[in-house]
Amino acid sequence: MPGSAKMNYRNRRLLQTVSCAVLIAYTMLLVYQTLSRGGPEVAAGDKLSAKAYHRDRNLAEDRSTNEIEIPQEGFTTEMASATATIKPPTTTLDDVFISVKTTKNYHSKRLPVILKTWFQLAKKQTWFFTDTDDPEYQMRTNGHMINTNCSSSHNRKALCCKMSAEFDKFLESEKKWFCHFDDDNYVNVPRLVRFLGDYNPRDDWYLGKPSIQAPLEIIKKEKKVLKKIKFWFATGGAGFCLSRALALRMTPVASGGRFVSTGERIRLPDDVTMGYIIEHLLKQPLTVVDQFHSHLEPMKFIRRDMIEDQISFSYARSKDEWNVVKIEGFDEEQDQNRFLSLHCFLFPYFSFCPRRR
Ligand SMILES: *[C@@H]1O[C@H](CO)[C@@H](O)[C@H](O)[C@H]1NC(C)=O
Repeated sequence: MPGSAKMNYRNRRLLQTVSCAVLIAYTMLLVYQTLSRGGPEVAAGDKLSAKAYHRDRNLAEDRSTNEIEIPQEGFTTEMASATATIKPPTTTLDDVFISVKTTKNYHSKRLPVILKTWFQLAKKQTWFFTDTDDPEYQMRTNGHMINTNCSSSHNRKALCCKMSAEFDKFLESEKKWFCHFDDDNYVNVPRLVRFLGDYNPRDDWYLGKPSIQAPLEIIKKEKKVLKKIKFWFATGGAGFCLSRALALRMTPVASGGRFVSTGERIRLPDDVTMGYIIEHLLKQPLTVVDQFHSHLEPMKFIRRDMIEDQISFSYARSKDEWNVVKIEGFDEEQDQNRFLSLHCFLFPYFSFCPRRR
């Protein structure tokens, strides 16, 4: 009958439409799942493999145990697919431990401009290593001042003592990167994070910039024989970064105060001791990064169009001559070291920056 045939046809059309809709919905769900898996779940897998990595390291040291804890089934497959497709692991600000070396006499001279500028972009990740308790700055940094109990003099032992405290605090933090700076550095925080993203923290990395033209040569007594050794080191005043993997390899000579005794043995300052440990003892060469800048180089040579690409800046004053970044902005009275102007150039939306028209 034509009536029932028509009904049949209608039903078929309806069925087709419905199944088509179901198919589309299902496809969209699949696509959505795949896309969302690319995000946070990769990070979870990443953390897991990092943990597995540490476990491997620990196992290598402690051969008494032979068992490796297997994570849940679901995680294992996810982890495998994440490691297979995504590399290197994404780096975020939270992966970085930023230490700033300071001393009690510089709190009120040097910290205010840091707290007003770049510290605002890494408040949770930045720690100040000093040599006294200072309630005012403890408050202004939200409790991020660490009294190392080291001497406040600028001698070798005191410097190594602070570096040792920074290193130990980093190991405690479980972060992927340790970046050291001085209290006369301006740190371009987003640039630092982007830069570290190009390196894998599970490999050994010593990233920084030397301030001498040739490797340092020292004479060392080894088994009663004088030996000449050569190594590069990253200038502390420009800032440098170490990957967690490298820091872990350094623990036998650098953690728990051993950094100080190593420094004492070669009688050299903190940053040189760092180079000695990494380049000479561990045979891991320094990777030179031109975007770190200490006050030992003339800041005026950093071209304006290159500023955004730089990781750290510094300043110095000898007699009446200022070595500062050449940048327009605040007048010299207000901003002698140019950090306020530099900050407003990079981040003009900060409230203290002049409104642009
Ligand atoms: C410094 O000494 C105080 C008091 O003895 C102690 O509580 C603190 O943990 C020490 N700081 C460091 C970094 O060792």
